[in-house]
Order: sequence, then C-alpha cells, then structure tokens
Amino acid sequence: MELKLDPWGAVHVDDYNKLFSEFGISSFEQILPQLQNPHPYMRRKIIFGHRNYDSVLAAMKRHEPFGVMSGFMPSGRAHFGHMMVMNEIIWHQQHGADAYAAIANMEAHAVRGISWEKCRSLGINEYLLSLIALGFEPKENSHIYFQSENYKMRNLAFELGREANFSEVSAIYGFSGETHISHMESVMAQSADILHPQLKEFGGPKPVVIPVGADQDPHIKLTRDLAYRMRKFLVELRGDYISIRGKAASQEMMQAAESALLEAEIGKVKRYEEHIDVTEILDQDRLTTGALLEAVDRLIIDLEIKQGQYGFIPPASLYHRFMTGLTGGKMSSSKPESHIALTEEPKEAGKKIMRAITGGRQSLSEQKKMGGEPEKCSIYEFLVFHLSDDDKELVELDAECRSGRRMCGTCKKDVAERIERFLREHQQAREAARERLPEFGIKI
Ligand code: TRP
Repeated sequence: MELKLDPWGAVHVDDYNKLFSEFGISSFEQILPQLQNPHPYMRRKIIFGHRNYDSVLAAMKRHEPFGVMSGFMPSGRAHFGHMMVMNEIIWHQQHGADAYAAIANMEAHAVRGISWEKCRSLGINEYLLSLIALGFEPKENSHIYFQSENYKMRNLAFELGREANFSEVSAIYGFSGETHISHMESVMAQSADILHPQLKEFGGPKPVVIPVGADQDPHIKLTRDLAYRMRKFLVELRGDYISIRGKAASQEMMQAAESALLEAEIGKVKRYEEHIDVTEILDQDRLTTGALLEAVDRLIIDLEIKQGQYGFIPPASLYHRFMTGLTGGKMSSSKPESHIALTEEPKEAGKKIMRAITGGRQSLSEQKKMGGEPEKCSIYEFLVFHLSDDDKELVELDAECRSGRRMCGTCKKDVAERIERFLREHQQAREAARERLPEFGIKI
C-alpha cells in the first residue's frame, strides 16, 4: 500500500508554493527519494523546502564532513515548534554532522531588550535542557554556545559587516534611521552563527544546513550572498568550459590558481588578466554531472584557504511548516493558550488540548453526516508533527474522521493522554540533562 500523506488542504500548499516561485526556495519533495532513511518531518512533507540541500546530501553519502547549525532566541518559553528545529539538528548530528546550536542572546538583548541574566536562564532552562534531553550529544566539532561568549563567531560577524552595507540590510529587514546599531550587529551575528562552522578552527569549509521556519529565509539569503562575497574566485560552468574568475584576487593568487589547475590536468588552462578558462576538458562525463565543476571549486577553495581566506561554501537550508496554534491562527510564544511549552505541567497541557480548535463541525449530527476536516484540526496536526510514529495510523485516523465515524471528543482524549505522557518523559529527561550541562561547556 502506498502511503500518501498530505495533512494539509490545498490552501496551505498554495501559500507554500508561492515560496518556491517567488523566493527561489526548492521543493523538498524532489530530493526526498535520495534519502534512505528520511526523518518523519521529511516523509510527511512538514519539511517542504530547501536551498542547496543537495550539497549536504552529497557530503553525507560520501562520508565527507558536513554540518548542521541553528539558533534559538531566548525570548520566551520553548514549545513544540522549537522542538522541530531541535529534532532536525539532532537528526543531522546522528547522521554524521558537526552540530552547532546558538542561544541568540545578543539578538534577544538587542532586539527585545531582554537582560543578559534572563537570556541566560531562558537559554538554559527553556532551550538547552530540552535540546540535550532530545538527544544532542557532545562531540568534537559540535558546540552549544551563547552568542555573546563565542568570540570566533563575533570576530567573523565583524568581518562580514564589511560586506553588508546599510541600504542593503535596510531593504531586507526594514531598518530605518531610528534602528539602533546593536540591532544591526545582531543580524551580522546571525550570519556569523551560520558561517562560523566553516572556519578553519572548526574543520574548514564544508556544506552546512540550517533548519529554520520559512520566516528566517531572508537571513539565509543574505548569508548565502555574504558567503559568496567573501570568496576570492568565482568558479562557473560556461557551456563546455569552466571559468575561474578572480574577484579582486591578487596576481599572486591568480598565479597560484593557474598552477593548481595545470597540476590537476583537467584540460587546457589559459590565463587572462582577471580570469582563467579551462577548455578542452578531458573528462566530459564528470563535466555533465557537475562533479568536475564541484571538484574545481574545491581546489580553488583550498587555495583560498592556503592564502588565509575563508573559502566559504554557501550554506544550505531546510524549511518546515509552522504548526497551527491550538486557538487557531499562528502558534506563538507570546500567546500561552496557542501553544504547549516543553516545560508545561502535563495535566495543564492535557486541558489545553481539550480546549483546542479542531476540524469538527457545528453539531454532532452534522459531523456524522459531513465528516470532520482533519486538515483544519490542530489536534490532528499534533499527531502528524509529533505524537505518532505510525504513518498507517494517521491515514486511518484521517479516513475515519472524514467519514464521520470518529468524533472530536475521542481524538482529544487520546491526544491529551499522549501529550501528557510525552511531557512527563521529556521533563524527566530534562532533569537528567541538567547534570550533563558541564559536558557541553555550559557553566551552571
Ligand atoms: N533569529 C533566529 C530567531 O529569531 C535565531 C537565530 C540566531 C538563528 N542565530 C541563528 C537561527 C542562526 C538560525 C541560524 O529565532
């Protein structure tokens, strides 16, 4: 039996389709078949889009270094929406990634005015304990950090600031003459969060994926641009030849690039004032698959590194859908009734579920006649996103609901029980995680 799971109605999908056509995000579905063991979020189309995730998949397959990185702004309680990002970080770490998690205390302090002490306690108690409880492990080249304490990242933020000017960031973030400078700095900090796993201290350039909600895409796009601007060469395929263009590269670097290309013996190398062309390429097969272009880019990146440059690879990203709030509309940290926090008292969480908006009809008889609408149900969504590992169970529930055989009361009771059980276990794991904070370099 082929399982087709699309927990959303056409309305939502349309909205997300816009992201593809207007913003240049790629559809995740197209690369899904390349994953042997996709995360349920991937299988269930909760992760719906990406940028450049191909680069991460390729590294994963070849057992080459790659990374995962995301950040959390410590401005309120961590809820199930944040847990998705945590699970995505952990899944990649378990699949071999160097994993990085930032507590964005500079951003929370600059943008929301939250005190450093409050950032610290929210960062630890809301986010880090859950992240560790869910399975983040200490590993070489895996780090949990507070932005303000990571000077490698902060120094990089300063460098990146040279490549981003005021009119550009204003256009992206709506900054005006009133916007204070720390706010702008926090934007560079986020770009540096994303790129710093590629510093040589952390193993050098590698594909790094940033799992985020679609609202964070402007940061991703800016950071991908900055990564490119920090490069000294642009390596491009131009029909049947490869062009290596120096972007203000010194003559010394051009010379080094020429020698490296000659040594690699891939074709005829011709050097001009500001670019080098490789024509008459010997291995046409590799050229058509793009593998050769990638190899040449890698060669040039290594050369940039040797010359003390960064050689960043544009970061990849994954986008997941947002959960609907329990009261309808968006799930939001600032509206307690709309979400369930990971530290919520389990009984209280159960009560929130019992009060939540479902896809049920006005009356019992109407529902029996017309059936419910699981695609509009915040309770069903909880099952799809978090509380059922079983795709078959979901397909059956969906069918029973639509046919009018299953009523909301039954579902609510079931989901309330599952959520209470989940929270009890998670909160126990959090207490165990508290003991382990020093393993992650977090002082308590
Ligand atoms: N700006 C993000 C938020 O508002 C938090 C964040 C900081 C982040 N640094 C990051 C997200 C790096 C992804 C990658 O939640």
